Amino acid sequence: MGFGERIAIKSRREIERMRDVGQFTAEILLELRERARPGVTTGQLDEFARKALEKRGLNSPFLGYGPGGVRPYPGVLCASINEVIVHGIPGPRELREGDIISLDFGVESGGWHGDSAVTIAVGEIDSEATRLIETTRSALDLGIAQMVPGNRLSDIGHAVQVRAEREGYGVVRQFVGHGIGRQMHEAPQVPNYGQPGRGPRLKTGMVFAIEPMVNQGSEKVRVLDDEWTAVTVDGSLSAHFEHTVLITDDGPEVLTRIAGSC
Ligand code: MF3
Ligand code: CO
Repeated sequence: MGFGERIAIKSRREIERMRDVGQFTAEILLELRERARPGVTTGQLDEFARKALEKRGLNSPFLGYGPGGVRPYPGVLCASINEVIVHGIPGPRELREGDIISLDFGVESGGWHGDSAVTIAVGEIDSEATRLIETTRSALDLGIAQMVPGNRLSDIGHAVQVRAEREGYGVVRQFVGHGIGRQMHEAPQVPNYGQPGRGPRLKTGMVFAIEPMVNQGSEKVRVLDDEWTAVTVDGSLSAHFEHTVLITDDGPEVLTRIAGSC
């Protein structure tokens, strides 16, 4: 995956498949959100997600994922609490009132992929945590709004960065969004920062997973010894949202959005 490789254009039929897998992703993620309550463990959420996949005959692209010799990812869900930015491994940790948690979930079906994440409050959270979540959500929306034919790739990240930095937050550089389709990670990489007007032109039929990660403090990242869990170096909170989005002649179509969700 990189900037140099060609960006796939999905056919009508392929887009139909991606709509289906996107809807399954959204449906299960919504069910997970409803279950993220105080006292629930991230391991229980992962267990629920496994059953939800199984019930529908779907596969997890996360389970066993291990690019470049990294330890294969052990869950179907990434559950990233508070200062964990992304790739939190599900386990015995219980959610507590006042936590924020990013639930990042993917589906593979018939060779096609969907990928989506939300950050939500566990019970009541303070106003600063709310501001971080809302800013990150709106940064994603502004990035998505740039996904129109004729724009350039870096217009997406530029819009995300401007929105987040206006609030004084740090935009994570170490992880980026990505093309998605036959593989969970395809060309191009989609950074959440940059100058506008750079990179390839966006075309109808391209599908990208846009996923801003925004820290209350420094954008710097540290990965724990488990080889996955990515945390903020300064211990500040981090929020993460992701949607799988198709570029159409009429503008962006969010494939992982369903009624009743954001
Ligand atoms: N949404 C993340 C990504 O696109 C989740 C994948 S991490 C995995 O990179 F290891 F769980 F697959
Ligand atoms: Co992703």
